[in-house]
Amino acid sequence: MACLFTTLRYNHAMMSATPSAADPFWQEMAGSPALSGHPLIMLAETVSTNSDALQLGRRGAPSGTVVIARSQTGGRGRLGKAWLSPAGSGLYFSMLMRPSLAPADLPKITLAAGVALCRAVCRFCHPAAMIKWPNDLLIDGKKCGGILTESEFGKDMPAVVVLGIGLNVSTLPAAFPEELRGKVTSLSQHSRETICRTTLLKNILAAIDTIMARMEGGDFAGILDQWRSFDATKGRRLTWVTTGRQAVTGISLGPDNEGRLHIKDDQGRTHEVLSGDIRLQSF
Ligand code: BTN
Repeated sequence: MACLFTTLRYNHAMMSATPSAADPFWQEMAGSPALSGHPLIMLAETVSTNSDALQLGRRGAPSGTVVIARSQTGGRGRLGKAWLSPAGSGLYFSMLMRPSLAPADLPKITLAAGVALCRAVCRFCHPAAMIKWPNDLLIDGKKCGGILTESEFGKDMPAVVVLGIGLNVSTLPAAFPEELRGKVTSLSQHSRETICRTTLLKNILAAIDTIMARMEGGDFAGILDQWRSFDATKGRRLTWVTTGRQAVTGISLGPDNEGRLHIKDDQGRTHEVLSGDIRLQSF
């Protein structure tokens, strides 16, 4: 680990491994080589922990390595969206994995991670967190977290998969751009207790480990059953904006057995959604 850490530290101008004195979470974790059995790389600031974890993956870092940043300058989400990552109030981390899954099954990891995240945050929030297909964590209809799974394939090598998670833990509404304020939230706004980010992170890592073991054991059907209990969209009216910018409006039928979302449009046609943006219409 020391070797891995040193390589990262000296090869990347944007990165700093200096722990912050002002952040108890960061102080508590500083210097830990591992967390819940995961090799841990802590960065005070970076562009994107997903980029860092992908780079570590290319260099052969062990599966399970977690890169966590106190803040990100270029945190990214699905469809090229930015992920706001201010210091001291959120969790921004990426887990490097080399799962024994077929390439066609890799998109299912995002759904599995959604279940893990909902389960890990459930004791901290009321109402319960739900998932907007495929990767948005919602509380009370507002976005509180997101998942970005990225993968790379090498010849004759298992795929490198990076599971990136961003969670607004105690980010105040004023920290978000004005246009987002009515659409985003933080865990602390729905919690009666002060949230310890170390405990939360440990819970999330444990939940991911459990669900990935189930995925690799072939129990995606069971995971989907659980996913359906967190589904924020089923039966709701929504608009699907395709990657070609076409809009399809209809009712969500929920995911099929492969995790692809089905939508019944206003003409009664059913669409199978693999990618693109899902915009829920308000009640
Ligand atoms: C989304 O909402 O579309 C997904 C957001 C994922 C954000 C996390 S923060 C840690 C990791 N690093 C990134 O650049 N993105 C993910």
